[in-house]
Parts: sequence; C-alpha cells; structure tokens
Amino acid sequence: MKKKFIKIFDTTLRDGEQSPGASMNIDEKLRVAKQLEKLGVDVIEAGFPIASEGDFEAVRRIAKAVPRCEVAGLARANEKDIDRAWEALKHAKKPRIHTFLATSDIHLKYKLKKSREEVLEAAVRAVKYACKYTENVEFSAEDAVRSDKAYLSKVVAAVISAGAKTVNIPDTVGYAIPSEFGNLIKYLKEHVPNIGKAVISVHCHNDLGLAVANSLAAIQNGAGQVECTINGIGERAGNASLEEIVMALKTRKALFGFDTDIVTEQLYSTSRLVSHITGIVVQPNKAVVGANAFAHEAGIHQDGMLKEKATYEIMTPESVGVSQSAIVLGKHSGRHAFKARLKELGYDLSEKDLELAFERFKKLADQKKEIFDEDLDAIVADEVLRIPDKIKLIYLNVSSGSVTVPTATVELEVDDKKVLKAGFGVGPVDAVFKTIATITKTKSKLLRYSVDAITGGTDAQGGVTVRLEEGGKTAIGQGTDTDIIVASAKAYINALNKLEYRKKKTWTDLP
Ligand code: KIV
Ligand code: ZN
Repeated sequence: MKKKFIKIFDTTLRDGEQSPGASMNIDEKLRVAKQLEKLGVDVIEAGFPIASEGDFEAVRRIAKAVPRCEVAGLARANEKDIDRAWEALKHAKKPRIHTFLATSDIHLKYKLKKSREEVLEAAVRAVKYACKYTENVEFSAEDAVRSDKAYLSKVVAAVISAGAKTVNIPDTVGYAIPSEFGNLIKYLKEHVPNIGKAVISVHCHNDLGLAVANSLAAIQNGAGQVECTINGIGERAGNASLEEIVMALKTRKALFGFDTDIVTEQLYSTSRLVSHITGIVVQPNKAVVGANAFAHEAGIHQDGMLKEKATYEIMTPESVGVSQSAIVLGKHSGRHAFKARLKELGYDLSEKDLELAFERFKKLADQKKEIFDEDLDAIVADEVLRIPDKIKLIYLNVSSGSVTVPTATVELEVDDKKVLKAGFGVGPVDAVFKTIATITKTKSKLLRYSVDAITGGTDAQGGVTVRLEEGGKTAIGQGTDTDIIVASAKAYINALNKLEYRKKKTWTDLP
C-alpha cells in the first residue's frame, strides 16, 4: 500500500524564537537548522527576514546551508516584507514564502482597522505578488479559529485561486478544543471548492495545553501539514510540540494511518540542542523527551517492566534516541572515547570544536572523578554551542569570606577591546555582576538568578541561569563551571549577548 505522509513544518527558529527569553544568534540558528535537516523535517521556517538584520542574515545563511529541506521565510501581506523575504530565500534549493494576514473580526477591527473585503483583497494581492518569485507560497489566515467560518472559506478559496500551494489555519491564541478544530478543517474541506489544489496546514498554540491534541484532530480531518516546534517552545505558552506529534503518529500508526519523514532517533538530541541554545529547560515530565519520560519509579511498574516491557512502555527510549548505555568518562578517557560518547549523545562536532570541548573535558576530569552525560552536555553548550559575539570573559578573580568585603576583578573583551575593572558587592556574585554591569554599561534588570548542580556530589559542575530584561525584551543566559561564581559570570555574559541580539529586532506586530 502507498504510504501517506504528513509534512512536518518546523518553526522553532521563528515562532520558537519568539518564546519569552529565547533568542539565538546566527551561528546558533545555523546549528539548529542543520540538526533539523538531520532530523528530517520537511520545512524549516528560518525566521522573519524583515524583523531585523540578524533575522535576515540567519534566513539567508540557512537557506544556503540546508538543501534537503524547504526553507520558509515569514512576511506580512505587503510587498516590502515579501521582497525582503525573497531576498533572504532566493539561494535556497527549495524556497518557500510564507505570508500571513489576520482574518478574525477582532483582529480586523482592533489591529488592522480594515474591512473584510479589504483584507480579502490584500491577502490575494500578497499571494499573487509572492508567486512572482516562487511557486511555493504559503498563506496563513492568522487567528483563523476565531474567524467567521464562511468568511474564512472565502479567503481560503481566494488565496488558492491566487496561487497559494499551502493554506495554513492557525489557532493563533490557542483557543480551540480538538473536536471543534477537527470540525473546522472538515468544514473547509467541504466548503472550499478548490481546496484539493492546496495542502491544508495547521499551526496550533498551546494556551490551553491542547496544541498537540488539536493538531492531531486536524490531521484526522484532512490536514496534510503540521507546524510545530522542538520542545513546544513558542510565543506565550508555546506551539505544538514536534516530538509529541511525530511520536503520536508513529506509536498510533494503526489509528492515524500516516507516516512522517522524521528520523525519530534524532528527537532527543535535537531537543537537548534547542534547550541548551535557548536556555529553556525541558520539564522532567515532558512527554517523549523529558528526563522522566522513560523512568519507571513505582515498584509495581518496575516489576512489570522486568517481566515484559510492553506492560508499561508504549515506545522504546531508543526509538527517540535516548541511549540506555551508561558509560561514564574520567581522567583516563582518551579523545577517542570522548568523541564516541559525544556522537552517541548526538553531537557531531568539527575537529576544531571537538578539540575545544576535549580541552575543557580534560580540565574538568582533573577536578571531578566521573564525568556524566550531563557534564558533556554542559561542556558542549558552554564551549561550542554558544558563540559569544560581543562580550567575552577573559579573567575573573573574586575574594569573599566572613570578614572581607566581597570584591571582584573582571576583565572582559567588549567588541574586541579589553577592559579590566574591580568592584564590590554584598556577596561574590553581586560583586561580579556589578563589575560586569559597569564595564558593559548595561541598563538591563536582573529578573532571575538560579543555580543548579548539574550532577550529584560537591565536585559537581554548577549550572547557572540568568534572566535579564531591558526595554521590554528579555533574554536567558546559561553558564556552567565547577566554580559557581565563574558559572554565574558566564551566564550573565551569555544573557547580555543574547539581549543585545534581541534588542535589534524591530517588528512590533508579530502574531
Ligand atoms: O500564530 C500564528 O498565527 C502565526 C502565523 C504567522 C502562522 O504564527
Ligand atoms: Zn504562531
């Protein structure tokens, strides 16, 4: 029997990057894009080219770097946005222009201040304009779920006639419930005469925790593409989680009857990569990729698992790339074992990056007897994945104790210029942060500071997370080290670098 496929449209780099605090620089985005290609997604939405120079450049570079995937760039329904999107996408092997306009009366009245007729005309005009550049045009009816169904059908029919090959039906505010959303897709299939000429896509937000359920209901009613993100990150409560949708389709294949091209064994490493780069941690009980997703705690469950795994396991950890092997590395482990373990964890590093990571591993192995997978994650995240573009830590010395005023001496490289300063604080971390703030002249406010031990023991590496805010923009930074003061400095600098990148975005009306 011929296989039927659902297209996986990944928007981690666009909607996912709109998550509060998450921002990725261009190199980080490229790494994620390459991993998404390895994961086998059909479409990568690489960004919103008109939003900032950084977004434009990221889309341009990703377009050239991932020939196996379609690369989409987002554009509002106007010529300037579409021109900019095309400029960024034109070198892609399979470019896609994704243009959008809201169709709900709430958005028409309060946001767009346009009539239904005007919006319909603008949508058609935008699609026709985009089709001058490429045949591969997607139109999204923003806030489709809260739109009048008859009007929505009219818009969908008109944009398909104008040339859209994909029509996306977003639940922009995560308002629908599965039966209702499934029925909306069914309604469109039945009421839009030319619907067979386009793929119906869905894009569900998770405000009520129903994004995955709604996407699956849409698939059961005729959607051929789902838009989703790794770890479900995205605007507000996030988007539908790619790994959950894919594993639901795979685990319940007999029910859904669809395949995807996703290499499911790459799911876990992709999830970790995105988490390390964005600083957004995956909750332990998260389906498919959470730390507890395959942990059986209750005695009765463990007993069942020993007798027959199928008693309590509906998918194997190996099928999503969670390795069961527990090799622990140490001081005597060589480059070969180190590289092999990283590979098993999903890190395919260049020789140069491998060398960087190995040096840090050796230093850590001198301080710490056993190196666990979590330590390796932290090393790769710190040394390789995060590329500080503006500010770098060169030197740090802190003195503190019960009778000393905590003092920090910090040397930073800011835009290739080295600056050395000392400062005081109420504690060592405060002294370090104040000194860094003086050197960088940052006006940002510290919203959150937290420290975690990455593994057990007093020799564990400390993982520090810092959240900063400036002018309404937030950024999360992370740093790791066996010395938590050094980890704190790294995390603060990482957040400052990310904030710098985020501040450059100029758009104001993203969905
Ligand atoms: O949530 C939304 O409606 C969007 C569209 C641009 C697809 O992100
Ligand atoms: Zn969205």
